Amino acid sequence: MQLKKGDLIPVIIHKLAFGGAGLGECQISQELAEQKPWLKSISGIKIFVPDTIPGDQLLVSLTKIKSNRLEGKIHSFTKLSALRIEPRCQHFPVCGGCVWQNIEYKNQLSYKQQQVQEALAHLGNFPESELLRIIKPIILCNSPFEYRNKMEFSFGRSQEGKVMLGLHSPGMRHEVFDLKECFLPSGIFANLVEVVRDFAKKEKLEVYDDRTQDGLLKNLIIREGKNTGQIMVNLVTSANSFPAINRFKELFKIGIWKDKIHSLLWTTVMQSRGVPTWRESQVLVGKATIHEQLKLENGHKLDFEISAQSFFQPNTHQAEILYAQVVKLAGLTGKEVVYDLYCGTGTIGLFCAHAAKKVYGIESVKEAIENARANAKRNQISNAEFIIEDVGKWLGDNQSNPQSIAPDVVVMDPPRAGLNPDIPQKIAHLKVPKIVYVSCNPATLARDLRLFYDLGYFPEIVQPVDMFPHTYHVETVVQLKKTKKDS
Ligand SMILES: C[S@@+](CC[C@H](N)C(=O)[O-])C[C@H]1O[C@@H](n2cnc3c(N)ncnc32)[C@H](O)[C@@H]1O
Repeated sequence: MQLKKGDLIPVIIHKLAFGGAGLGECQISQELAEQKPWLKSISGIKIFVPDTIPGDQLLVSLTKIKSNRLEGKIHSFTKLSALRIEPRCQHFPVCGGCVWQNIEYKNQLSYKQQQVQEALAHLGNFPESELLRIIKPIILCNSPFEYRNKMEFSFGRSQEGKVMLGLHSPGMRHEVFDLKECFLPSGIFANLVEVVRDFAKKEKLEVYDDRTQDGLLKNLIIREGKNTGQIMVNLVTSANSFPAINRFKELFKIGIWKDKIHSLLWTTVMQSRGVPTWRESQVLVGKATIHEQLKLENGHKLDFEISAQSFFQPNTHQAEILYAQVVKLAGLTGKEVVYDLYCGTGTIGLFCAHAAKKVYGIESVKEAIENARANAKRNQISNAEFIIEDVGKWLGDNQSNPQSIAPDVVVMDPPRAGLNPDIPQKIAHLKVPKIVYVSCNPATLARDLRLFYDLGYFPEIVQPVDMFPHTYHVETVVQLKKTKKDS
């Protein structure tokens, strides 16, 4: 007999892996090995099991068999971990939004800290003793609930054909569950979901199905300025006929909603295979945008105008803390030229501008740069320039330009995939003494830090920040300095 999918294996979970699954070890007792000799070879082998936590002991049904690791799903528990707590939300664990809500917040923080440390040790090849010195304790989120300023809900249909509005369970692209509560944003989000769902039911509206490209209702996107209290409600539909739209609009002109909703939008999206997606937003009530503010560490506030399409950090208060760390680790004194690479809508660059001589923000998405320029203007920031360009190309062009101003600090916040392999080399060519790397992915961060290390840049301070409590995500800010021998 050979090991196969569906085999039941006794497992003990030791850790939480990046991605949220429990990481454990196959425990093949002598008795079991005698009954099923083909299991002997996997004794002590690592196994990933979603929805488990350290201390759980269970029988796991194998789902994936690879030479160096196994994956499985819960069959039955023999002992539940003492670290488990009662999750606050009734949708746990059906909703994949908060996979760690059954773990006390302080324990979540230590797993995140451990993940950063292990990624840098195993994928970055940095010695553990060095890492213990440079990795600072993770900065916690003071409000681990009600922190999100944006949520996107989806419409779906129950088997009986009833309209549903909520979130997708992990791996369920077409099915949603009816959301009754969610503690990641403020309570008003669930109230709005209920109002819109009831309206859709009453009006007998069709839900859009992307397999047949029929129907109307797609999403409900809600945003809330945490420092301004302004709320945007955006109903997203297909371009099919929607005669009830006027009655939808009237809903928000009465009762408690009248003074609460700053912007009510209706966005129609046209999607068909082989044709670029087209979308258009109409203002039904109030304005096309809302405002959000970020407090600088000197007490001043930066004002941001957010449209339906704008990107904004989903946790406003932690964004203030994260960006203040960037300014601190950049060591700005007012005299520095700063490059803000992968600048998006310019929030990091604008945060740095008050403490720098000049900021250059580089980003490839035109709309994001337009937002960044508008944000600079609104906040009367004249020492920040935003440029639409691919970072690799811009670094290349900029080096060959004798007029270019060499940076004193390079700050970068790349996407999850991290840097293209040529980027560290291009940055090293600038002979910049200090780099601040903001990352949402410890694995790609570790890989890139090793590339910088080989070019003479050593990570001096590694600061994890918890932006998303109850999820496995962790943000990290790293200060790198050029070592003397290579300068
Ligand atoms: C993690 S986000 C940065 C968000 C930004 N700090 C903000 O607050 O808006 C990464 C950004 O990199 C941009 N990007 C990705 N690849 C790029 C490239 N090769 N050149 C320039 N920008 C790029 C994306 O469009 C995205 O806005």
